[in-house]
Amino acid sequence: MNLEDPATESSDQRGKPLHLGIEPHLRGLLGWGIQRVRTAPQFSGVDSSGVDSSSVQAAATSKGSLEQQAATVAECRDCDLCETRNMTAFGVGDPSADLLLVGDAPAEEEDRCGEPFVGPAGQLLDRMIAALGLSRDRVYITNVLKCRPPENRQPQPEEVAACQGYLEAQIDQLKPTMIVALGRTAACWFTGQETSLANMRGQGHIWRGIPVVATYHPAFLLGQPQFKAECWHDLQRVIEALGLTPPGPRA
Ligand code: URA
Repeated sequence: MNLEDPATESSDQRGKPLHLGIEPHLRGLLGWGIQRVRTAPQFSGVDSSGVDSSSVQAAATSKGSLEQQAATVAECRDCDLCETRNMTAFGVGDPSADLLLVGDAPAEEEDRCGEPFVGPAGQLLDRMIAALGLSRDRVYITNVLKCRPPENRQPQPEEVAACQGYLEAQIDQLKPTMIVALGRTAACWFTGQETSLANMRGQGHIWRGIPVVATYHPAFLLGQPQFKAECWHDLQRVIEALGLTPPGPRA
């Protein structure tokens, strides 16, 4: 990545004041050993899928406010998950938050409540967010899929493809300063890579001008708590880049 490259600089003209100052984040991310920068389709002109970027942007904008998007998602029948879901889980939190956290798909409790990350994984996520010095209502939380896959199985490629426009439009509205991809499905979505989470962790990624940190999914950490230290290492990067003040040690 060339920080002096005007294409890189102009890749953050999305209107939110904090975004105008992305360069410090990029410089911070360079210190993490950035290996790959995914240039925003709307800035490079042509989406990697062959779709013209201006039409991608126009389609996202035409999807309207988050409330309108959530209403559209609630009616969605674009893949088979609509047959088995109880509720869609669109997103929760502060729409003007700097930090967006993205998991893979709603699980049982989320399908019942219509809110992402309210079950056991959500409770761990809440603690991870607290460790950043933030709270659930000061970030925004969503998933790659808005509907629960039966038996909590892995999202299928056709389901991810069917839901892709919703997450794109959602991020277009949210304009976060930084994104944390929780688990492999979200990390693959943002990086465009089909590889292990291990290969995507510890690198700086950029999605449409927004820095993305890939780390472990809280559900994985519930079963494999020995990886929490590595996750915390990843979250340190969020703290540094956003200038957060985590809570100090308990007295
Ligand atoms: N796992 C996710 O990825 N998202 C949720 O909302 C719940 C569990």
